[in-house]
Amino acid sequence: MVNNVTTRRRFIQAGGGVVAASLAATASSAATLAQARGGTRAMGQPLPEGVKLPSTPPRRKRPDSVGFAIVGLGGYALNQMMPRFDQAERAHIAAIVSGNPDKLRRVGDAYGVPEDARYSYDAFARIASDDRIDAVYIVLPTGLHAEWAIRAFAAGKHVLCEKPMALSSADCERMIAASRRADRKLMLAYRSHFEPYNLEAMTLMEQKAVGAIRLVRSEQSYRMGPTSPSENWRANRMLAGGGPLEDYGIYGLQSALYLTGEMPESVSATTFRPTGDPRFSEIFAHVASQLRFPSGAVAQLVTSYDSAGTNFAHVRGTDGALIMDPATSYSGQKMRLEARNAREFAPGDPSVQFARQLDHFTNAVRDGEAIRTSGEMGLRDLRLIEAIYAAAETGRTVNLAPDGRMRR
Ligand SMILES: NC(=O)c1ccc[n+]([C@@H]2O[C@H](COP(=O)([O-])OP(=O)(O)OC[C@H]3O[C@@H](n4cnc5c(N)ncnc54)[C@H](OP(=O)(O)O)[C@@H]3O)[C@@H](O)[C@H]2O)c1
Repeated sequence: MVNNVTTRRRFIQAGGGVVAASLAATASSAATLAQARGGTRAMGQPLPEGVKLPSTPPRRKRPDSVGFAIVGLGGYALNQMMPRFDQAERAHIAAIVSGNPDKLRRVGDAYGVPEDARYSYDAFARIASDDRIDAVYIVLPTGLHAEWAIRAFAAGKHVLCEKPMALSSADCERMIAASRRADRKLMLAYRSHFEPYNLEAMTLMEQKAVGAIRLVRSEQSYRMGPTSPSENWRANRMLAGGGPLEDYGIYGLQSALYLTGEMPESVSATTFRPTGDPRFSEIFAHVASQLRFPSGAVAQLVTSYDSAGTNFAHVRGTDGALIMDPATSYSGQKMRLEARNAREFAPGDPSVQFARQLDHFTNAVRDGEAIRTSGEMGLRDLRLIEAIYAAAETGRTVNLAPDGRMRR
């Protein structure tokens, strides 16, 4: 597990960053299977390697700051998001939820979280009566998102949920229904929608900077270290679905949609799972898909857990191309236009994406601002992921309705 996590973190920081017929199931049916078996439980894990906890508690926030309970103190929460709360205008860490008591103590002390605001998973329901908590940020393995988001809504809290929303469109629908019942906000933590390079790319494509878009190509890959399903949830089908597509390739899928500004009308796909490699006993090594859009544009998306790291998006139009490489990293983005007006872009510091995402959510909670990365967007993406797996499993092109549902 250590190797896997370390390799991925290094790769992403460097800027680079269902299941085959033999398993006779799709990623979405993996979720159904998980439910049939009573689900996979939230369980505490060791403190990830290399985490740097703050040496001074976070600064005080404005009185209308939104208090978050962070659920799951793993690599992404501790290394990326929790340190960024300090940069947000009105978001603060009010509570932490973890299955590891030692982490609760160490992380709680470092972030100045009061002892009575450090919850185990078993005690989670008690957050309902904790007025310090306005919202819950779900940073658990994907197969646990639906259950814990629904529990958070039952406790009367707003929810910011990590990507992908869940492992099936049915679970996404349950989450949206729970949000509506509780009259609480639901937002997906799709950070690229708050990152200056991707925002500039969206504007450029709207302005037809490459003419009419004809081709989008994107790839998100890294080489997963030695691992086994029992050691790391990313290799566990019940927690990760089909693997790289849900975890990493979702950035390529998202880019294809926000760069073209269209929904695909059909999809074809292929998956690969090597035999005899314990990393891929439950998940795919690669997923490649091809989306066709109503305008005639075609997107080719590839994602892999077993090839050297890369993370790019290229858009080619009738008058030029936009090259983003790396495209959706935590930092180090590069973007250039190859057209009549050729140039490099430096629209801002990509690291603002984390705090801006928090500020967008708190604006929705406090001021009712419309959410850009809604639960409906998360649901749409899960429908497309299901269509990709259905196309791969049947070897046929799947036609899609405008909301991403498969046409029968
Ligand atoms: N937006 C992004 O750029 C980005 C990047 C990376 C990850 N993510 C998302 O963030 C979420 C967490 O990913 P991560 O990389 O932080 O994973 P991670 O390092 O493995 O951490 C996951 C944490 O979840 C908790 N957990 C509860 N039940 C678990 C179980 N059965 N197996 C494993 N962990 C369990 C553990 O926290 P405790 O020990 O505290 O209980 C664990 O440390 C995923 O949804 C992932 O897709 C998003």
